[in-house]
Amino acid sequence: MASPGLSLRQSGFGATSRPDAWWVQPLLVFLGLSAFIIYSTWAAFQGAHYHLGPYLSPFYSPEFFGSSSHSWFGPSPGWWPEGVPFSPAFLILWAPAGFRFTCYYYRGAYYKAFWADPPSCAVAEPRQHYRGEHSFPLILQNVHRYFLYLALGFLFVLAWDAWKGLWFEDPATGRTEFGIGVGSLVLVVNVILLGSYTLGCHSLRHLLGGRLDSLARFRLRRQAHACSTCLNRRHMLCAWMSLFWVGFSDLYIRLCSMGIWTDWRIL
Ligand code: FES
Repeated sequence: MASPGLSLRQSGFGATSRPDAWWVQPLLVFLGLSAFIIYSTWAAFQGAHYHLGPYLSPFYSPEFFGSSSHSWFGPSPGWWPEGVPFSPAFLILWAPAGFRFTCYYYRGAYYKAFWADPPSCAVAEPRQHYRGEHSFPLILQNVHRYFLYLALGFLFVLAWDAWKGLWFEDPATGRTEFGIGVGSLVLVVNVILLGSYTLGCHSLRHLLGGRLDSLARFRLRRQAHACSTCLNRRHMLCAWMSLFWVGFSDLYIRLCSMGIWTDWRIL
């Protein structure tokens, strides 16, 4: 019996029948991520103007070693190689960066935006073979779950920072008292947005939802899974808002610390 033949022809790079402006989204992702990477790298190398009173930039938290009063273990460590510039951000930024880099959403976005694999849905890519994430180096993306554990720890630390950002020292008496500055609100919003992003992680959903049927009596876990699922539906939105805000938080504290902006006290 004759069967109709299907001829699949590899089209040239960028070829598509799509009539819409499919290139706008990858372009915006490219510009947004590039701007963040450039700014955060620059900010991490500064090693200064990352704190102001009770505020600590999220790019530098937790500050294991450093010159500010937020430092956990004192000034720069003696084992740091001589001649190599030191910044407290170098010790910790790899963890949140790794979390975002291996995030399922960002992977889909930057595969398209940065190396056109594919440029967009139904748009021809510049390669003949699909290798996926089953071979080196992209198989390393599977470490995402371990970065999630670190990110949850960071979330607690940043929540603690936001709490500390509500306590100001009175220069006259030296006593610490409750107050609210614009910077306090910036840090609180930062935790809310980072929490919305982190708690909507696919890996966390799987962790909470694993064998849920047989564990149906664990009501709390079912509710946590439902919350995570709800946040996961907005994962892309949370990813971008938290990315923007964490960068803005650093910028706000930096500019206030440099005297360019004033941190207004609300209370
Ligand atoms: Fe995006 Fe885990 S999938 S943070």
